Amino acid sequence: MSDDKHFYLTTPIYYVNDVPHIGHAYTTLACDALARYKRARGYEVSFLTGTDEHGQKVEKAAHAKGETPLELADRVVKRFQSLWEKLNISNTDFIRTSQERHKLAVQEIFRNIEAKGDIYLGEYEDWYCTPCETFWTETNLLDGNCPDCGRPTDKLKEESYFFRMSKYQEQLLAHIEANPDFIQPKSRRNEILSFIREGLRDLSISRTTFSWGIPVPNNDKHIIYVWFDALTNYISALGYPHDSEGNFKKFWPCDVHVIGKDILRFHTVYWPTFLMAAGIPLPKKVFAHGWWTVEGQKMSKSLANVVEPNMLIDKYGVDAIRYFLLREVPFGLDGDFSHSALVHRINSDLANDLGNLVSRSTAMLSKYFNGELTNPGKTTETDTILQDKFIRQIGVVDDHMEALAFNKALQSIWELVSAANKYIDDSAPWALAKDADQRERLGTVMYNLLEAVRLIGLLVTPFMPGTGANICNILGIDPDDQQLDKHDKWGLLQPGTKIEKAAPLFPRIESE
Ligand code: MSP
Repeated sequence: MSDDKHFYLTTPIYYVNDVPHIGHAYTTLACDALARYKRARGYEVSFLTGTDEHGQKVEKAAHAKGETPLELADRVVKRFQSLWEKLNISNTDFIRTSQERHKLAVQEIFRNIEAKGDIYLGEYEDWYCTPCETFWTETNLLDGNCPDCGRPTDKLKEESYFFRMSKYQEQLLAHIEANPDFIQPKSRRNEILSFIREGLRDLSISRTTFSWGIPVPNNDKHIIYVWFDALTNYISALGYPHDSEGNFKKFWPCDVHVIGKDILRFHTVYWPTFLMAAGIPLPKKVFAHGWWTVEGQKMSKSLANVVEPNMLIDKYGVDAIRYFLLREVPFGLDGDFSHSALVHRINSDLANDLGNLVSRSTAMLSKYFNGELTNPGKTTETDTILQDKFIRQIGVVDDHMEALAFNKALQSIWELVSAANKYIDDSAPWALAKDADQRERLGTVMYNLLEAVRLIGLLVTPFMPGTGANICNILGIDPDDQQLDKHDKWGLLQPGTKIEKAAPLFPRIESE
């Protein structure tokens, strides 16, 4: 069992028949901000991402390109890995479902559930949507098409292994009811509760019509259903079933599976019932975020509007993209990506509010004190208001991070940026500088200001690691020695520190 100071979080594993786009980047970024925040709060974090490489969809895509599925996967995996590097993602592991460690775990969990009598051989006759890798009954279909994606389905009749999912209906309902935070946000939880209450059917968990996947133990005519295979990644990566390094023991149950709303049912119905059958504890939380449209439209290859993250990073910088995606839309709701909204955020929040704060503060220190921090003198009411606000708001940010409310966390941090900018206006250092008797007061104002900048730098680090490190460097402190946990108090900057006038953190973007 994981104790308080361990935190395990996961992204979905991405299909390799598609190249990474902004939707994939979003899930991974959100997890990265949370992973970095938890580390900054003193947790040992296991942060998993990876690729979902098996199944008919990938097999078809590979054949269409004249490649083997593994060749296709090897090629596309590199695209994901290089994007994660470029986005400054701090995952601690990367799982590929084609790896041996994963195959072992999938077969073991299959065997385990079969030995319990919850897997049986039967015959399937239903409609299958290959793009969604989902079976539908006749009544589910909309005009003969998949009710989720609207594409045509194929009638499949085949021998198949079934999982007795129906047996776990009541146990699953009871679990969701007893654990109000298990499925988030709440609206999603209600959606799943009504789905389960309509009745769970047994689930077909093997296929005989293609070969790219993990064979059923002792019957390799059958390939294990790609979702049974894929979901198991969350434990195979921890070393289940052998757990020779003790990671499964240390990190399971998972603290949060972060996913998109489209794959909620797999994570909150299939996965928990598989785990129940296998006698493994359930993850603590599944959080489903919303979907991005682009300039008001669904992203799709046919509309040629797929937003390519590498291009955005090259144009606007990695931290600006990280900030925008997590700031713009409440985590859990759908959002729209537009270049004008991105440029607006960069100019107003980053270049103006934060960037100006840092350049003004350091420029004034340089001008008035030759860049050297002095000892703060007597504290006035304006100072106390500022300090109290900072200390209080650090707690508010913490609450928002616990709730995965990234946009609110950023909003709260920007309230501090505004408070610091207002402190400059209220204290009017330029006026103090004209009066020799106000020298000590001027020093105090400068100290408070730079201390505010330091704390803002710490708070933005999980979202914008490069900017956080940049701010530390400007303040002459070591970014690696700035764990939020130990440095979230007022007054830690050392008087005497030399601070140079900072170059602008974010250049303004001129609209095209
Ligand atoms: N392979 C499965 C997941 C298996 S997890 C055991 C899968 N892969 S995916 O590549 O199709 O999608 C991965 C994630 O990207 C999903 O969480 C999905 O919601 C997310 N997104 C894909 N397009 C998206 C948007 N347009 N907007 C936001 N997220 C989107 O499903």
